Amino acid sequence: MAISYKQCPLKSVTFISISKIMEKVLITRRISDSAVALIENAGYEVALYTELKNISQGELIKMCEGHSGLLSVGPNKIDEHFLSACPQLKGIALMSVGYDKVDLDAAAKHRMPISNTPDVLSEATADTAFLLMLSVARNAFQMHKSIERGEWNFFDPMQNLGQELYGKTLGVLGLGRIGLEMAKKAKAAYGMDIIYHNRSKNEQAEKTLDARYLSFDELLQQSDVLSVHVNLTAETKGLFDKDAFSKMKSNAIFINTARGAIHNEEDLLNALQNGTIWGAGLDVTNPEPMGKCNPLLSLKNVCVLPHIGSATTETREKMAMMAAENIVAAMKAEKMPQVINPEVYES
Ligand code: DGY
Repeated sequence: MAISYKQCPLKSVTFISISKIMEKVLITRRISDSAVALIENAGYEVALYTELKNISQGELIKMCEGHSGLLSVGPNKIDEHFLSACPQLKGIALMSVGYDKVDLDAAAKHRMPISNTPDVLSEATADTAFLLMLSVARNAFQMHKSIERGEWNFFDPMQNLGQELYGKTLGVLGLGRIGLEMAKKAKAAYGMDIIYHNRSKNEQAEKTLDARYLSFDELLQQSDVLSVHVNLTAETKGLFDKDAFSKMKSNAIFINTARGAIHNEEDLLNALQNGTIWGAGLDVTNPEPMGKCNPLLSLKNVCVLPHIGSATTETREKMAMMAAENIVAAMKAEKMPQVINPEVYES
């Protein structure tokens, strides 16, 4: 297993003697040097798993042995089995805003503080949703592929036609931080009407963007573009199925940058093939990674990205630093600033 221990640069004693006294933090993927340095400078030894592959839960449990902190990057399942096997952990910092891989009941039972990285990735993720919306509207990915196939031979004014977004209606499912950024961009760029469905009303969006709150069915029926920004939960799993797609407009574009399991892939494929909806842009799939022969990839009005929502140098740096600050707090037995389950701190 490719784990490397980084020597603390601050102390002029040998690695062996440091490792005897220093507590250890495991990081499950390469992250920025500055985030690693933040943890080391706080006085902890850092172990980095550098192999570019997913780790099984069994492997992760083994790797966590001898470590008091876990900075979890990637889709690691934090459930009852994991938490019972790793009682030595003082806290788990996720480098993601989504925490659908965490069993919150198990975390409560084990009184395990867990943090995420909200806010810092909202703009980058909304950019990805916007990129997909425009790319689908103009068939951008498939046009690129057609040039590669040598199909750009002459000008035909009736060919390669996309649809415009000016004055159209954007439906946002989940008008939280990321959904709001997407709505702002769509309003500013194309004067789109904003409608939304949420657990609760978003007064800020209603005031500043004239956003209108609708029921889920009304959102399906009235959106020209429907962008998904909810968490994956028992309620949202498979929410976009045959029934939901059948209620959408035939010119509708479906965008999902949240989690792949929120849409039923087979139903989406059928809806696109039958012309029930017009196109789809996905930054998330189920499963991930998507296989290269997936039929969605060959459809004209589909654009798929490999879960790059927050993948900019700037945003990943901010996420890594936030996760590092959180794990350092847990190591010091302080409240993690971005804890998702603050009740574990209640006596
Ligand atoms: C997030 O931060 O939740 C991204 O989707 C990466 O998993």
